[in-house]
Order: sequence, then C-alpha cells, then structure tokens
Amino acid sequence: MYTFKLDNGFSIDLEKNDKVFTPTGTSKVLVEAIIENVKDKKKILDLGCGCGAIGLSLFKNNIVKEPIYASDVSEEAVNNFITNSEKHKCKYIAKQSHLLNEWNENQFEMIVCDVSAISEEVAKFSNWFDVTSCKTGVDGSDLMKEIFENVEKYIKKPGHFYFPIISLSNVDFIKEYSLSKFKKIKKIKRFNWPLPEEMMKHLEALKKLREKKFVDFKEVLGMVICYTDVYEVSFE
Ligand SMILES: C[S@@+](CC[C@H](N)C(=O)[O-])C[C@H]1O[C@@H](n2cnc3c(N)ncnc32)[C@H](O)[C@@H]1O
Repeated sequence: MYTFKLDNGFSIDLEKNDKVFTPTGTSKVLVEAIIENVKDKKKILDLGCGCGAIGLSLFKNNIVKEPIYASDVSEEAVNNFITNSEKHKCKYIAKQSHLLNEWNENQFEMIVCDVSAISEEVAKFSNWFDVTSCKTGVDGSDLMKEIFENVEKYIKKPGHFYFPIISLSNVDFIKEYSLSKFKKIKKIKRFNWPLPEEMMKHLEALKKLREKKFVDFKEVLGMVICYTDVYEVSFE
C-alpha cells in the first residue's frame, strides 16, 4: 500500500505494484496545479498513468467525468491503474499504449501528460526509473516532442492539455518547442525540489550534462535544487 499525499492535506491510498513507477513531486505538482485551475468535471485522459496517482486524485477531487481514461506503455502500470480504479470505485477505460497511439477514435476535454520526460542519461543513474521505461533521448525531449506534434487532434475543443517540464531535461528546448506548437500556453505552477541524496554521487556527470543544456539545476548552500514547471495549453 502506498499513500499519495498533497500539501493541502489530501491523500489517497493506492496499491503499488513493484514494477510500476512510484509517484514523485512531479505527480503532486501536476495534481495541485490542475485542482487550482479546474473547477468542474471533465472527460480526462491520464497519459502515462502509472499506478493512477494523478488520475485518481483528480477523480477524488471531483474533476473527472466518469469513466476516466488512462494509458501507459507498461502493461503492469495499466493493470495497477485498473486495480486502483476499482478500489476507489471510479469507472475507467484503460489500455496499454505508446503515447496517444491507441486513442485514435477518441477526444478528451483534458489530457494530463506525465510520461517519462527526464534525460535518459539521468534516468540511468536514478532509481526512479529502475522499473520504468524512459526512452526520452539524451536531453529528455523525445517523447514530449512526439506528444506536442499529435496532441491537438485528441482534444475536444474547448479543451486543455497539461504537461510538466522537469529540469532534469533540456528545459529551454522543450519550452521553445511547445511555444512553436501551441498558440495559447502558460506556466501555471513551479515546484522546487532537492536532488535526491542517492543521485548526489553523480553530481559531476550532471554538471557535464548541464554544460550541454541537457539538464538544469542550481547549487545553493551545498544543495542541488531542481524544479518542475506545469504548463497549461488551451485549445479553443
Ligand atoms: C514519471 S512516470 C509517471 C507515472 C504516473 N503518472 C505517476 O504519477 O506516478 C512516467 C510513466 O510514463 C510511462 N511511459 C514511458 N514511456 C511511455 C510511452 N512511450 N508511452 C506511454 N507511457 C510511457 C511509464 O511507464 C511511466 O508509468
């Protein structure tokens, strides 16, 4: 059993399969940003759903028009999502899919994207991705670029697309790419977080990646500070 908690006191108990990603601060800031900005129920796709922390937290906060839609490239994640949807009595349509590929007949009022989006090089030395696919390229942008190219046709207008830019990727490139693709886009939340202790031993490698702009972070009083920004794209 795993408890996913937000700073506002909200929490949800989830079953967590060992082969499925454990939610992080990025999962939390995405949920918080959406709760702060969306006030009614939407037809939602949780893209890169993992065990369901994001989608099911939105359901518990009355933002999901049932059924909730969810997908992940990992079969274990989809099964874990189904277990948790049933546990929380949320009707669902869940499937295994590379990005949006299996949703061709569908449109959503909201797509929340939390597919792997940090540099593949960083993922190799982080234990976040021990059990999770992270085929994102050296600067972490490969999956995001593919989603940016395709997402509009899966949105029922007026609708929204939410995604994070994590500083363990090429922030400037991903931001510029998104600005070139979307007319109405804004940053709605930032979350600063310390680099996990177990990754500090890779600081020199991280600094080399930072020189190439593949990652970004600040060093403050011996701490390495990373960040996640949440973006909202509006389609009208
Ligand atoms: C950072 S984890 C987030 C999981 C979940 N949203 C959470 O908050 O715990 C990224 C998820 O994206 C999935 N993923 C990786 N590559 C993918 C792809 N090509 N298509 C769909 N999902 C993918 C992973 O299996 C993983 O579950």
